[in-house]
Amino acid sequence: MLINENLSLIITDNYDVSLKKLEIFVKRIKTIRDVDCRGKKVFVRVDFNVPLNEYSAVSDDARIVAALPTIEYLVQSGARVILASHLGRPDGERMAKHSMSSVAKILAQYLGQSVLFLQNCVGEDVEFAVSKMTNGSVALLENLRFYAGETKNDPEFAKQLAALADIYVNDAFGTAHRAHASTEGITHFVETKVAGFLIERELEFLGSRVLDPERPFTVILGGAKVSDKINIINNLLDKADNLLIGGAMAFTFLAANGHKTGTSLVEKDKLKLAKDVLKTAEDKDVNMLIPTDFVVTDEYNPEKMTVNEVKVVDSDIPDGWCGVDIGPKTVEKYSNVITHSRTILWNGPLGIFEIEKASRGTFDVAKAIASSEAISIIGGGDLGKAIRKSGYDGYMTFISTGGGASLEFLEGKELPGVAALDRI
Ligand code: 3PG
Repeated sequence: MLINENLSLIITDNYDVSLKKLEIFVKRIKTIRDVDCRGKKVFVRVDFNVPLNEYSAVSDDARIVAALPTIEYLVQSGARVILASHLGRPDGERMAKHSMSSVAKILAQYLGQSVLFLQNCVGEDVEFAVSKMTNGSVALLENLRFYAGETKNDPEFAKQLAALADIYVNDAFGTAHRAHASTEGITHFVETKVAGFLIERELEFLGSRVLDPERPFTVILGGAKVSDKINIINNLLDKADNLLIGGAMAFTFLAANGHKTGTSLVEKDKLKLAKDVLKTAEDKDVNMLIPTDFVVTDEYNPEKMTVNEVKVVDSDIPDGWCGVDIGPKTVEKYSNVITHSRTILWNGPLGIFEIEKASRGTFDVAKAIASSEAISIIGGGDLGKAIRKSGYDGYMTFISTGGGASLEFLEGKELPGVAALDRI
């Protein structure tokens, strides 16, 4: 049983109790709809931690786009919108390549209005600039992590941030698992603290719709290690009708079933854990499938992200060969389950999608989901990237903006950035 007292979210063996609690929680959390923002200085913590290319330009603006509904709503409500985010991990140092200035330009284009970029986050200059803002205008502060106090959740820094705000809004779901000055500390110094629309939507899809799914409910899990996903597996085995496994963690299950795995990544100390999971799935009547064929290579270079020769083999992977993707027969089996599902939750890629020869499993499963009528909920991080690369992102019901945050939420852990917000 996982108890999360602040959120009143209880994930227990008693399914009905947990459902009611979550429903109450999601309904009770205050959002920007519940406050009058006209003429107010509204400090919005967003997650603009976007990927940058070798020239420090934004290479994927999905997180900026995801924050637009909240920003546009506040602009239309006549708020003075002060946006703040981190970008990368500059560890308290000012580094040009981690500046938010490029984000400010992209944001201005999307909003169709100017965005005042402030080169600091706190201090007299910032306070003065903010005091001159007019209703409906937007400012973006410099990278919060240029200040060591941000990740240390330093109360002094949090108080300085709070000095900019009449109202605090958290819409940074991707950072909600961090108790930092701008996500948690600041809430101790501002009277009104509410959620934005992105957090509201993330809680609806990763929360309510997972705890009360339209059935059949299929969970697809990929990623490197069983040990990284074990809490999610245990949590979701209580709820899923089907559990489809892919990614490198499939090889640990394969080994646990007595198959040969060649040079594939196997967690040798987790074989018992894998066996226990298979047994629990059987006891709980969950249709748990592990791949029956694989794309394998005789040489995989993780630094250069290349493979040499590839071929498809059935469950026993020959000596000297390494599994890099699920095979076509597995894709067909999984697609069949997907077609008959009403809700799909997917976390973690099924192969090394960055390498073309090892990407088909992930992309073909994405295609099957896109062609199905199921509600599809995609965990963020690498998988979000993979789905966008596949071109099927527009067909998914919801793609989470959280990597670590969505993992922790699905594990049933408390997200400090959400727990600190007001309830109705
Ligand atoms: C993320 O990208 O997962 C969030 O923005 C959090 O970033 P962090 O892992 O550097 O805290």
